[in-house]
Amino acid sequence: KEEFGDLVAALPRKEQYLDGRLYEGFWLPEHYAPGIIAFRRRFTPRADDVVLASYPKCGTTWLKALAFAAMTRAAYPADEHPLLRLNPHDVIPFVEDVFTDGHEAKLDMLPSPRLINTHTPYQLLPESVVAGDGGGGCKVVYICRDPKDMVVSLYHFMRRLQPDLSLAGVVESVADGTVPFGPMWDHILGYWRASVSRPDRVLLLRYEDLLRDGAAGEHVRAMARFMGRPFSAAEEAAGAVASVVELCSFERMKALEVNRRGTAGSYKSMPRDAFFRKGVAGDWANHMSPETAARLDGIFREKFRGTGLTIVP
Ligand code: A3P
Repeated sequence: KEEFGDLVAALPRKEQYLDGRLYEGFWLPEHYAPGIIAFRRRFTPRADDVVLASYPKCGTTWLKALAFAAMTRAAYPADEHPLLRLNPHDVIPFVEDVFTDGHEAKLDMLPSPRLINTHTPYQLLPESVVAGDGGGGCKVVYICRDPKDMVVSLYHFMRRLQPDLSLAGVVESVADGTVPFGPMWDHILGYWRASVSRPDRVLLLRYEDLLRDGAAGEHVRAMARFMGRPFSAAEEAAGAVASVVELCSFERMKALEVNRRGTAGSYKSMPRDAFFRKGVAGDWANHMSPETAARLDGIFREKFRGTGLTIVP
């Protein structure tokens, strides 16, 4: 904050449920902006790092659980896996918090291969992460979700901090692009384009696909392969993919005792269980008028036109 405070203070500001600063085309939450700039300028990846990236409320917690469970599946006896007692946010650092709090040394101490998590748009990732062939860099897994379900999820999450927040207010911020880490379409498009042009480096997953897969875990299998940890024939025969999916299931994660304690990262008044609400696709229909849904769909369809990207898989 001390190092980049002046830079951030000079950026255009938007007061809303999370105050934003416009930095290189994205509305970064004011609180995290100095940390994201520090991340951008100072982070050095290791070749076997995996950056788990997401737009907020699109399945970050689930992605963190699945990636960690897949990566560490052979490291613990089945009944001693850390995710049997820890929240996914306890096992994978969120770089915005790390850099905002000046705890960068913690990243250096993590054993390889490191899993780290961010909401930073692809366009703002450190050059060292997105570097081309031969230029270093590391792998990136991104998760996205139907924007309408993101809106409903974000609304419920932020309501815990601001009880008078309206769904209409969140919808407007998404529609005008000022939503935290927005515009959301540019966030998704940045990762989408990278996943198309560099499929060896960037994997795009969708919340709805993971739900649809269930225990079959087709996309979990693909992610493990992408991360350099493919499931062997023996593991397949032993049902290891289904075990990872089950370890990370919504019902199991939501029920963790640890969620009854503590707060969610830098949101000091947010209880940990705020990351687990319904865990379904299509809940927007219970909260949004058909007109609002059509308006949001229309905006994203227009922004995605010609790219081959659809709103929902
Ligand atoms: P809902 O509010 O629609 O229920 P994030 O982790 O990016 O903050 O996203 C939170 C959303 O993911 C919430 O959506 C939450 O319920 C859902 N979620 C969290 N853990 C999940 C899991 N293990 N399986 C499926 N959905 C999960």
